[in-house]
Amino acid sequence: MENTVLIPTDLLPKNRKFGSGPSSIRKTSLAKLADSDLMGTSHRQAPVKNLVASLRHSLAELFSLPDGYEVVLGNGGATTFWAVAASSLIRERSAHAVFGSFGAKFAQTVSGAPHLKDPAIELGGISARAQGQETASDIALLPGEQEGIDAYCYPAHETSTGALSPVQRVAGGLNLVDATSIAGGVQVDISQTDVYYFSGQKCFAAEGGLWVALASPAAQERAQEIKEAPGSGRWIPPVLDFSVALKNSVKNQTLNTPSIGNLILWEDQVQWMLAEGGLAAMEKRTRQSSAVLYEWAASRPEVCPFISNPLEQSPVVVTIDFKDIDADTVIAQLRANGIVDIDPYRALGQNQIRVACFPNIEVADTQALTACLDYVIDRL
Ligand SMILES: Cc1ncc(COP(=O)(O)O)c(C=O)c1O
Repeated sequence: MENTVLIPTDLLPKNRKFGSGPSSIRKTSLAKLADSDLMGTSHRQAPVKNLVASLRHSLAELFSLPDGYEVVLGNGGATTFWAVAASSLIRERSAHAVFGSFGAKFAQTVSGAPHLKDPAIELGGISARAQGQETASDIALLPGEQEGIDAYCYPAHETSTGALSPVQRVAGGLNLVDATSIAGGVQVDISQTDVYYFSGQKCFAAEGGLWVALASPAAQERAQEIKEAPGSGRWIPPVLDFSVALKNSVKNQTLNTPSIGNLILWEDQVQWMLAEGGLAAMEKRTRQSSAVLYEWAASRPEVCPFISNPLEQSPVVVTIDFKDIDADTVIAQLRANGIVDIDPYRALGQNQIRVACFPNIEVADTQALTACLDYVIDRL
């Protein structure tokens, strides 16, 4: 690029990947992957099944899974899980808190399901602002127990904006909680959810393509009940049938062929998280990194956090608006210096940066990033 501002090497972060997914992967995980004898072997044989068993057991330990909950997995990532929920977890009608792109995509998937009633969609945050309203962007948007609603759905964290929601049970239906980008980065009480689901390419520093759902007994029973409902006429392809995923998961396998490399990376990351002190230690890391960025934003008059309410500010994905500076120029300058993926979510259309503070990000690297931002902004 022309007129590159060359950042002195002693200011640069050691690890220059700050993307909100796919996220930075520890070098030791990648080395383990390269050395593994499992790559190129059958997923139906004991060595790969043992790997899946280890991943399931370590996730159960990491999340202190309550009695009766199961770690269920299937191919396709969180996007596919939305279709699974529409096919085999929502009985008749769901309610959705929508405060960003991912919550909206789930609601849209459900809206298209011919066997379901139109969902109740409660807009908040950026999604409500688009309609000229100012409302909260969290679970508070959901109606309390309401007749005819059998599933309450919300993101615990909206990756498109960095808006955070408390995770608290709404009575009267299954609670389906999209934790794609926050699972593994904060402490959570899983008993407040019926399905806490996520993909691997965020805090778990693995790859996309697999969904994991921590499922309560009520969620497991719901899938069975829907499958067996006499005369429902509902078509549920096996890949979207939660009960099929459950049946396979308890045998430590997936319905169809998984990415073994993804399983290796994911399992290694969970072992690392446990060895470091579990979710409490991970939350300490994410809060320290994100605090560096929120403090930086407070220190410069030209920038401010996109999420203004500190209670809704994410510890794992920090979005910072630029007022009189062109964010794209700053992003391009950093990329020219090898610092990548601090671009905002593409559909948001904000003049901002978005920086991941997942557990793998070292606080020292986040500090170095702010020094690099200062260096570039002061020379534009
Ligand atoms: C909150 C949230 N939900 C769902 C998804 C979709 O996940 P996947 O791409 O694994 O299907 C994402 C992806 O970034 C996300 O951030």
